[in-house]
Amino acid sequence: MNYWTVIPAAGQGKRMNAGISKQWIELLGKPVLAHTLDVFEKDSNCEGVILVGSEKELQQMQDFVESFQYQKVRKIVPGGKERQQSVYEGLKVVPTEADLVLIHDAARPFITQDSILQLLNTARDTGSAVLAVPVKDTVKRVIENQVEETIDRSSLWAVQTPQAFRLSIVMDAHRKADEEGYIETDDASLVERIGQTVAIVMGDYHNIKLTTSDDLLFGQAILLERQGEKA
Ligand code: CTP
Ligand code: MG
Repeated sequence: MNYWTVIPAAGQGKRMNAGISKQWIELLGKPVLAHTLDVFEKDSNCEGVILVGSEKELQQMQDFVESFQYQKVRKIVPGGKERQQSVYEGLKVVPTEADLVLIHDAARPFITQDSILQLLNTARDTGSAVLAVPVKDTVKRVIENQVEETIDRSSLWAVQTPQAFRLSIVMDAHRKADEEGYIETDDASLVERIGQTVAIVMGDYHNIKLTTSDDLLFGQAILLERQGEKA
């Protein structure tokens, strides 16, 4: 079940406040981006990776891909101001004959091959699928420090990446968003907007996005646990 992957890595990591973008932060001696790319490099179903970087980091990214000798990275393209624009730039250079495309944040380095396979199985049947986990906290809508309402948790899921789509579907969704000028925080939302249903596949609580510095602590613990399992 072959697929292509678009990896948006053109953000600035403002909430991490590390002085560098998140993909260059080292976790157990290896940059976050390397942890992420290793998964796709090893996956025989993955035909190619499109890496999206910020204009000013393109050379750094090229040098990085060469020094780590990633064979699967077929193109490195400049991204845009918003994540959505970066993803769209990446999608535009996926070969048109590709069937399934995965969109995966560079800042989620703990994705497993097992989750990817389950996601692809569903996307192949439905056209659109995302990894997600049930929300564990009680979530309230708050306005000016006052609780407006408590949302029924039983129907709430926290959505992750990768998100997998038939290329034609996600291209249509992005094209329409670009033409009409709306911005969403994930790609599935754009697909929902064109009236397609999106299937949920149970993800893994370890597949966190590195967003603030707290996440680095958890991230290190995840890697140490995995190293222990291999030893
Ligand atoms: N991203 C991107 N282009 C942008 C913004 C984000 O390619 N214009 C990428 C990031 O590099 C990251 C992923 O989208 O891999 C998820 O975004 P997020 O976690 O928000 O990362 P940043 O935008 O870098 O962080 P922040 O919002 O804190 O600045
Ligand atoms: Mg961001």
